[in-house]
Amino acid sequence: VYLTADIASEDLALVTDAIGGMRTLIVTTPTVAHLHGKQIFSALRQQGEDVSLLVLNCTERNKTMEQVERVCAEALRLGLDRRAVLLAMGGGVVTDIVTISASWIRRGITTIRIPTTLIGQVDAAVGIKGAVNFQGRKSYLGCFYAPASVFIDPSRLSTLPDQHVRDGLAEIIKIALVRDSHLFDLVERYSGPVRESRFAQPDDVGREIIWRSVLRMLEELESNIFEDQTYMRLVDMGHTFSPALEAATGFTLSHGEAVAIDIALTCAVAACLGSMTAHDRDRVIAAIQEVGLPLNHAALTPDLCRRALGEATRHRGGALNLPLPAAIGEATFLRKLADLPASVLSESLQWLQARSVAGSAGRATPAVSSAVHAGA
Ligand SMILES: NC(=O)c1ccc[n+]([C@@H]2O[C@H](COP(=O)([O-])OP(=O)(O)OC[C@H]3O[C@@H](n4cnc5c(N)ncnc54)[C@H](O)[C@@H]3O)[C@@H](O)[C@H]2O)c1
Ligand SMILES: [Zn+2]
Repeated sequence: VYLTADIASEDLALVTDAIGGMRTLIVTTPTVAHLHGKQIFSALRQQGEDVSLLVLNCTERNKTMEQVERVCAEALRLGLDRRAVLLAMGGGVVTDIVTISASWIRRGITTIRIPTTLIGQVDAAVGIKGAVNFQGRKSYLGCFYAPASVFIDPSRLSTLPDQHVRDGLAEIIKIALVRDSHLFDLVERYSGPVRESRFAQPDDVGREIIWRSVLRMLEELESNIFEDQTYMRLVDMGHTFSPALEAATGFTLSHGEAVAIDIALTCAVAACLGSMTAHDRDRVIAAIQEVGLPLNHAALTPDLCRRALGEATRHRGGALNLPLPAAIGEATFLRKLADLPASVLSESLQWLQARSVAGSAGRATPAVSSAVHAGA
């Protein structure tokens, strides 16, 4: 995984080295093709690389096997064989589709990723997983298949809409909270200018935030890369209540917003249990609000939380394994469902409700606007 400067000019050689003279199919989406893809495609062509471009109209709604088949069909049409490269350029949707395609073609061809969203750069493109949705189930079909190289070029974020920047910042707060207090300090201090400038300002802080997030993510994944060693995963922070919440809102809440609410609730639980100080909890709450992410949503009911905890327990080998902050940058686990009494959950939900209302007094925070939206 490389942190690069401009991938279409000064760091183009890193990509050509990774391609190593093999025939290459770049897969991207219409938006990314227009903003970045064609530029990188032309730069590679000018270097004499044998590259083709497939622009695939793929979104979360159609992240399905049909898209994988489209990529495979184009690879076949171009006569790509074992010595060939599938290069994914775009957000997590396209890197997921390409990862599966690359694992299938001739039982595995080289794949390279150039993530262009913040979630892609700090999360989706960093691991070795790929997945598509199947019969209404999110990420039901997938594989573990490592990319040969991942090129993270933060300058590509210059065109990213604010909503997607906020979503990525939720994942950055997640990893900072469980692993890296210095990263948390940076987010706390600089999230305003970083968000505004799309990680270009101030100076190298934006790049440092991205790179530290990537390193912590890699460290967390390394010892459990196939997720078969342990169900105790710190990177599950923010991903216990959020799947049910996203689904309950009909996906009107974005992934990052749901993750932020999940983190806020988990910190409230941690403070209620005495695992985390109220001071640290409040720092996390303030950081989430500063980024413009919500703390709460009308759909976050005790019933939804209980269902989510049950689902997480099933998913995590029969134990809850809820990452629980102990301080900023440190976390433990709440191992069993019984360790989370109903009274603690309801007290935490009430606290969060009161806190998000108090926080929104005098300004329309997303917490209030999404609650109104859900109520409507
Ligand atoms: N495999 C994994 O380990 C893993 C981990 C996390 C998330 N994911 C998956 O990633 C997906 C979410 O990824 P995402 O948030 O990147 O969403 P996404 O791929 O849908 O991209 C979001 C939007 O941003 C646009 N876009 C991309 N780069 C841009 C740029 N530089 N400028 C302007 N617009 C740009 C895209 O066209 C798209 O409309 C989900 O499907 C999720 O399941 C996978
Ligand atoms: Zn996530």
